[in-house]
Amino acid sequence: MQAKIVVLPGDGIGPEVTAAAVDVLKAVAAQFGHQFEFDYHLAGGCAIDAHGIALTDEVLAICQASDAVLLGAVGGPKWDNPNATVRPEQGLLKLRKGLNAFANLRPVKPHPHLLASSPLKEERLQGVDLIVIRELTGDIYFGARKREMIDGKERAYDTMEYWDYEIERVVRLAFEIARQRKKHVISVDKANILDCSRLWRTVVERVAKEFPDCTFEHQLVDSAAMRLVTWPASMDVMVTGNMFGDILTDEAAVLTGSMGNLPSASLGDGGPGLYEPIHGSAPDIAGKGIANPIGTILSAAMLLRHSLKLTAEADAVESAVNRALSEGCRTVDLRRENALSTVQMTAEILKRL
Ligand code: IPM
Ligand code: MG
Repeated sequence: MQAKIVVLPGDGIGPEVTAAAVDVLKAVAAQFGHQFEFDYHLAGGCAIDAHGIALTDEVLAICQASDAVLLGAVGGPKWDNPNATVRPEQGLLKLRKGLNAFANLRPVKPHPHLLASSPLKEERLQGVDLIVIRELTGDIYFGARKREMIDGKERAYDTMEYWDYEIERVVRLAFEIARQRKKHVISVDKANILDCSRLWRTVVERVAKEFPDCTFEHQLVDSAAMRLVTWPASMDVMVTGNMFGDILTDEAAVLTGSMGNLPSASLGDGGPGLYEPIHGSAPDIAGKGIANPIGTILSAAMLLRHSLKLTAEADAVESAVNRALSEGCRTVDLRRENALSTVQMTAEILKRL
């Protein structure tokens, strides 16, 4: 098949990890007889430096016309001034919104050989295989916000806002995914405080009726955060809002031993999907060639699976990563001694593809 993939390397370690994932996609194309075209553009801090804005309308339009978008990471200390009005993260939000990528899928399945790398006791990690479905284009990320001076005092506000239809579409997708798994959905909210969460619960209960073969439970976000580190194996499909999902998925990432391992897919209504590792731009190690490429390589596998519907190819990439890990290949986030560089780790994965 032919596919046009937009690559947005972004900032920090973004260019290093996207280069690794593109190498893997090229190898897949060669082995399986596909033509992938890679189209590189600026997003994040590098786009601010070049154009004064974190994502130009032109690049957004190119992304919208593509088959899929692969993103590295955005941001860094250079653009971190708290008073800045132009910020790298705005590019990411504009992209998610512009692609209508409302559902962010973040699977968490610790590799059996990496259990000792997690700060959690190994016995707690046995059997963990969960997925967080995070709403991605609403919530406090996109509500009204302001910073202002009133009578010599400064205040700021950000507003959590949700429409029923925004909740409905992501919750429905969560139930569809649950149907392929253990048929149980945990909906995470803060309904004891927030009206948004009370609306969320009402919608969950309505949508659940369409899935009589599935069960569900509501859980408050604070207690879900605790359950994630005390009994993660009891969680399968979780669905939650943008902000809670952001926080819970960083927490969930440590179950796998390193944030560097975790991929994500952001999907909308049939438009191009957006694929990115869940880690950030890691400015402290940027340019050193030591970043873990697995999160981005597994994001490329999700791209193959969800946007291009190339299941065998996606399976092949995931199994190559799993075998590299089983056979002891580790980047520095997973092993201090004799760690592999980004390029070496990628070569080990390619060797097993
Ligand atoms: C993530 C990141 C982003 C988010 C940042 C970089 C804007 O933390 O993808 O989880 O908050 O969504
Ligand atoms: Mg985050």
